[in-house]
Amino acid sequence: MRPPQTRSLSELLNTNDFTRRHIGPSAAEQAEMMQALGVASLDELIETTLPEAIQFHGELTAGPGVTEAQALADLKAVAQKNKVFRSYIGMGYAGTHTPGVIGRNMLENPGWYTAYTPYQAEISQGRLEMLLNFQQMVMDLTGMPVSNASLLDEATAAAEAMTLAKRQGKSKGNVFFVADDVHPQTLDVIRTRAEYFGYDIVTGDPSGEMPEGVFGVLAQYPGTYGELRDLSPVAEKVHEAGAALIVATDLLACALVTPPGEQGADIVVGSAQRFGVPMGFGGPHAAFLACQKGFERSMPGRVIGVSKDSRGRVALRMAMQTREQHIRREKATSNICTAQALLANMAGAYAVYHGQEGIRTIAQRTHRMAGILAKALNDAGLSVNDSFFDTLTFEGDAAATRERAEAKGINFRYDGGRIGVTLDETVTVADLSDVIEAITGNAVDVLKLDSDAVDGIPANLGRTSDFLTHPVFNTHHSEHAMLRYLKTLENKDYSLTHGMIPLGSCTMKLNATAEMIPVTWPEFGQLHPFAPADQTEGYAQMLAELEGWLADITGYDAVSLQPNSGAQGEYAGLLTIRKYHESRGEAHRSVCLIPASAHGTNPASAAMMGMSVVVVKTDAEGNIDLDDLKAKAEQHSENLGALMITYPSTHGVYEANVTEVCDLIHQHGGQVYLDGANMNALVGVAKPGLIGSDVSHLNLHKTFAIPHGGGGPGMGPIGVKAHLTPFLPNHAVAPTSDSATGAVSAAPYGSASILPISYLYIRLLGARGLRESTGVALLNANYIAQQLDGAYPILYTGQRGRVAHECIIDIRPLKASSGISEEDIAKRLMDYGFHAPTMSFPVPGTLMIEPTESEPKAELDRFITAMLGIRREIQEVQDGLIRAEDSPLKHAPHTQEDLLVEDWTRAYSREVGALPTAAQKQWKYWPAVNRVDNVYGDRNFVCSCPPMEEWVGA
Ligand SMILES: Cc1ncc(COP(=O)(O)O)c(C=O)c1O
Repeated sequence: MRPPQTRSLSELLNTNDFTRRHIGPSAAEQAEMMQALGVASLDELIETTLPEAIQFHGELTAGPGVTEAQALADLKAVAQKNKVFRSYIGMGYAGTHTPGVIGRNMLENPGWYTAYTPYQAEISQGRLEMLLNFQQMVMDLTGMPVSNASLLDEATAAAEAMTLAKRQGKSKGNVFFVADDVHPQTLDVIRTRAEYFGYDIVTGDPSGEMPEGVFGVLAQYPGTYGELRDLSPVAEKVHEAGAALIVATDLLACALVTPPGEQGADIVVGSAQRFGVPMGFGGPHAAFLACQKGFERSMPGRVIGVSKDSRGRVALRMAMQTREQHIRREKATSNICTAQALLANMAGAYAVYHGQEGIRTIAQRTHRMAGILAKALNDAGLSVNDSFFDTLTFEGDAAATRERAEAKGINFRYDGGRIGVTLDETVTVADLSDVIEAITGNAVDVLKLDSDAVDGIPANLGRTSDFLTHPVFNTHHSEHAMLRYLKTLENKDYSLTHGMIPLGSCTMKLNATAEMIPVTWPEFGQLHPFAPADQTEGYAQMLAELEGWLADITGYDAVSLQPNSGAQGEYAGLLTIRKYHESRGEAHRSVCLIPASAHGTNPASAAMMGMSVVVVKTDAEGNIDLDDLKAKAEQHSENLGALMITYPSTHGVYEANVTEVCDLIHQHGGQVYLDGANMNALVGVAKPGLIGSDVSHLNLHKTFAIPHGGGGPGMGPIGVKAHLTPFLPNHAVAPTSDSATGAVSAAPYGSASILPISYLYIRLLGARGLRESTGVALLNANYIAQQLDGAYPILYTGQRGRVAHECIIDIRPLKASSGISEEDIAKRLMDYGFHAPTMSFPVPGTLMIEPTESEPKAELDRFITAMLGIRREIQEVQDGLIRAEDSPLKHAPHTQEDLLVEDWTRAYSREVGALPTAAQKQWKYWPAVNRVDNVYGDRNFVCSCPPMEEWVGA
């Protein structure tokens, strides 16, 4: 007999199914935790934790949440409004085949995409190795001795190179010279960046005379119109002027042409997009920056270096971390933090999979296609550039060509009367014949033209040097070999697939599978960022809806989706503030007040905007010292540009006086920038715009579910109040508004193809699910704080002794009495199967824990058990039962090899070392190396792949 039908159909419809999946603790577990905290409901927790004055009691406009199936079906219908043309527009973006083994095992694999930036090297050896491959590939192809491990996009990489040239160069001048064949979006970003550094931009032909006072020159090689210029004489002239030569290049071209490094370049930048990463309507893709020796300590971005572990084995880690630019705060010349690690990993893997021969063949095929096209166009009486790798430009009947091309589903570049065609590895014989027919109106037999193909590479610019000779690029060429190599690396790394990554300020929440799926849909993935608007209507709709939701969630009037990271958002936000002041004749308002506890990117961004940073004290509770703020606001009243605050504070507390703080700044004529990194504590319960701030960035890779990708991608859109809206970033190639402000990213919507993730996050949860997520984020953090209190002092709490969505535990007293440091605890947590919390930010000697709403109670309890276990181990040291240096805490993390030694002489058992909890006997994550020696690596800086014997023989 069927059971009685007691529930109605509407009750049976699983409309809140996703919320239940996204939020870790079940309703019963939430009730249990709430009981421990003495609250009856999430609403009560929210209402008694947030200051009353800032609470938002309405409902967000996101509407009701929907099921995963529904959301995906609806978004697919939107995506299908995009038209996937074959785009030969070029300008730094080219078609590419993502090898299936890389697409599925990296781009679509949470083992790769949910990892965090590899600050904890021992549990990040896999992606560190692939990033080292990326660096080696960049160094080999560009002919440079040093490379970093990725930047945000080619245009910002060129802007970063400009400031690096200024820092490193001998010239005291202020002129930066940009060749007239640099991609226009790069020039746009450079102009924006140069303005507040006070550099003068001069454009022209770099073969001519250098202007007076030049400190740096940027050339594009091949140029935006396809030509290959001999750079050696340019380099000579640039160096004579005491300036640095920066070359923006194309890695694939470098397989065939003399690389910039062999022609005297000091810095080489570019995008690795065409190494297997879809165009994605602009991103995300990894840019790179390579330089000559001597520049490495000033270079922006992360550099992976080779060091050794405590057993003397080769071990990788991020080199010179203290050199990371934003750590230099207001003395920084770059604010780069989150970059494009996942995409750099993909590009590195592409080079590993294809190897030297494969890359050369792809380059030759691409060049041959261009050569055949050149022959066909010449035959048709069109005059194309003499030298080229993959791009041909010519004067022609643009209107007629465009009509024929679009009828065939083809995009070319139209630049006045000039037509541009950039070919790539995906072009087939049939494609090329379509291209020729679209341009000339006549069909030709492509294969017949092969023997007459034009060679576009001048005789003196053919590549003679070897590249990709390291065994890693010459081993994994079969799919099985590649699959296993990728798996080996993946298995070395700790990601969200293993357990909680409780990094405070990083919000390592669930990156739901359904949210990730559209990223690789061709309708989102295959679009060129400068495709005509009538082909991108699906994107336009999705972006407009996302902007609307984000504006509502933040309480702002408009949103710009252009910035590619949180730090870029800060930069863009401060840019709108400066432009606003200028529009009112108050350009002198350039003082930026920043609390001492701010993230390093805040002062770094302010410095990049030409602002002078004045530090505001924080009091013993971690709050902004109101008296100090008042005094400084008063003192700088006339020139006050902005205050940058983080809310809830970086100390994880809702400061009660935040509205008062905002009012004070406004009274003195300043604007308030609210860093939205901690939005996970605000969504649905408070709005920055209502609190009183004027602009914020949102780290979509924190609160809005974009995965961290092992150090990027990210997205940092900004929300602004109406008075700042006219000053939002615009774009020279694809304008998005009437604003006169320049671009901050290469593409008008930054890394557009990952925006569906945040779109779906909001759609799936809906208004209620979003608020509930915030409530559970508070619940989980407060539960951990309560359970650890007593064992570890909780450094800061707000009203009613509560924390916000994260809590800081103070290790300093324990260190003083035991010699065990926060780093020892971080490494020991690896033995217990965890990624460490954030170490020493914002307070040195502390750990900041942020569990997020997505962690189930069982995982929180596992973490609490681990932390209490570690506390007992520290107690043993404090009680004199074991010396600190003999304890498992100092030897952590333990590897499989540790256990295999025959003469185990440690003061604790193997089991205590490696399997400190009973559950680990069932399954255990093993760190790949022992503790990594950072100092050794920095003293002996190596950023290229070590010889195989070193790996094996050590
Ligand atoms: C408080 C705060 N502000 C800004 C940033 C910079 O964001 P991004 O890394 O996306 O550039 C971070 C990054 O961790 C942060 O924690």
